[in-house]
Amino acid sequence: MNQTKHTVKTIQDMRDRVETITMLTAYDYPTAKQINDAGIDMILVGDSCAMVVHGHPNTLNATMDMMVLHCAAVARGCARTMVIADMPFGSFQYSVEETMRNAARFVTEAKVDGVKFEATPHHIEKTKAIVEMGIAVVGHVGLHPQAVGALGGLKVQGKSVETARKVVREALALQEAGAFAIIFEAVPAKLSAYVTRKLRIPTISIGGGPGCSGQLLVTPDVLGMFEAFTPSFAKRYQNFNGLMKETFARYAEEVRTGVFPGEEHSYKMSDEVLDAIETEFGKAE
Ligand code: KIV
Repeated sequence: MNQTKHTVKTIQDMRDRVETITMLTAYDYPTAKQINDAGIDMILVGDSCAMVVHGHPNTLNATMDMMVLHCAAVARGCARTMVIADMPFGSFQYSVEETMRNAARFVTEAKVDGVKFEATPHHIEKTKAIVEMGIAVVGHVGLHPQAVGALGGLKVQGKSVETARKVVREALALQEAGAFAIIFEAVPAKLSAYVTRKLRIPTISIGGGPGCSGQLLVTPDVLGMFEAFTPSFAKRYQNFNGLMKETFARYAEEVRTGVFPGEEHSYKMSDEVLDAIETEFGKAE
């Protein structure tokens, strides 16, 4: 497969040709490499990392240092796939300047291709400022998992006129601020399809239905590696946890019964060397 790097233009061209954009999350080099080689267009190094990799109860525990480290590993695996860093809670809330510095860290230290944050109307100035710096920005509307406390849980957003209006307004404002794509999370399918037709830029659904320009899922959900909970919009394609458990149990059984390591897994040495050692140190019991 052609390994030319996907850019903002590649993604916009796909949207304009009505070619569906594919996106998955990743947090490490080997997974990112497989996603890249499978021909997926974009990777989000999501702050879901705090939950699915680090075992925290929500995304609020992701930190800048944690995210930069994971982003750098993912970026090294992606010659072709466009890598987007998710700005963690506390990295963009305080000031325009701090948001700019944190966005710059992702680009300079982790070498990602863009950043995403859960921007509400209060963060439009920050979106503009990062775009002004020359950094590609992905917006995120609908469910904001970082607001889990205020929302009282991870719930679908935009079912009433009032909340649907909020989704439309935020999406339009993000487009005007210079975001090159917008993620729609847990939004009714009719609403995201409507906003997709209103916008000039691509929309990416994670629980936003089939009417968006692209689809995103959290990779451990796809692989069956995250058991704490599975959102209703996620589809499990494999049972990697089952496969891992079975593999580890088989390994333990082979070690206990002496099947592993076999001769083919051991280094050889000539008898003369062992004889010399036994002469010098004496025979072992
Ligand atoms: O962190 C993440 O994986 C996300 C997606 C759910 C959009 O933000």
